[in-house]
Amino acid sequence: MKIIALMNEKGGTGKSTAASNLATALHRRGKRVVLVDADPQGTARDWRAASPEGIDLPDVIALDRPQMLGAIHALSADYVIVDTPAKAESMAAAVVRVAHVALVVIQPSGADIWASAATVKLIRSKLDVGGQVDAAFLVNRVKAGTKLAGLVKGGEWNEYGLDQLTSTLGDRTAYAQALTDGVSVYDLPNLDARADVDAVLAELEAARWL
Ligand SMILES: Nc1ncnc2c1ncn2[C@@H]1O[C@H](COP(=O)(O)OP(=O)(O)OP(=O)(O)O)[C@@H](O)[C@H]1O
Ligand SMILES: [Mg+2]
Repeated sequence: MKIIALMNEKGGTGKSTAASNLATALHRRGKRVVLVDADPQGTARDWRAASPEGIDLPDVIALDRPQMLGAIHALSADYVIVDTPAKAESMAAAVVRVAHVALVVIQPSGADIWASAATVKLIRSKLDVGGQVDAAFLVNRVKAGTKLAGLVKGGEWNEYGLDQLTSTLGDRTAYAQALTDGVSVYDLPNLDARADVDAVLAELEAARWL
């Protein structure tokens, strides 16, 4: 079982958006996937509760207190995707402890980048004591063709000693629409959004992180 966490102690960077779509992408490829909602805010649960009946989406379960996370190991799944809360250091630390892969979701803005330092520090502290976790930034809401997007994609900003995925998620209404409707971008006509998520999975696969 691979445990993949979407993280950032900064709020609103796109953790739940990335988690729901990556989980659905793996699920639709025939993998056994559980989306763990580690956020007491319950966005992943609300997303699933809004889903139309009969739609083919991964199960969502709530493990939203740090002491509950041990239950992850008892799940029967190929992939567990963990949607983590903002502003919850003890939960973030507990998630980093169990995660095989940690993706730090940021938007291309200084506020998101600076605020991610706390999460990067948690990841580094696991690595420093000999723990294993494959970790990288995942840049979300990239506006194609903007100077800022180019700068962030180019990686000049990244002085955090953490890799950065080459693939990014674009700033597209389809993501907000999918979250609101309880579906994934694979259920909407926007092919660009699907291509984003496919590219992230392909990159993780190529790095043997999946
Ligand atoms: N790539 C995107 N394009 C357009 N809208 C997006 C994108 N990613 C996220 N959003 C929107 O931004 C808002 C915040 O996204 P989301 O809830 O995924 O962030 P979060 O990091 O999980 O937030 P929180 O820290 O509160 O858990 C939502 O309204 C979502 O629909
Ligand atoms: Mg969220």
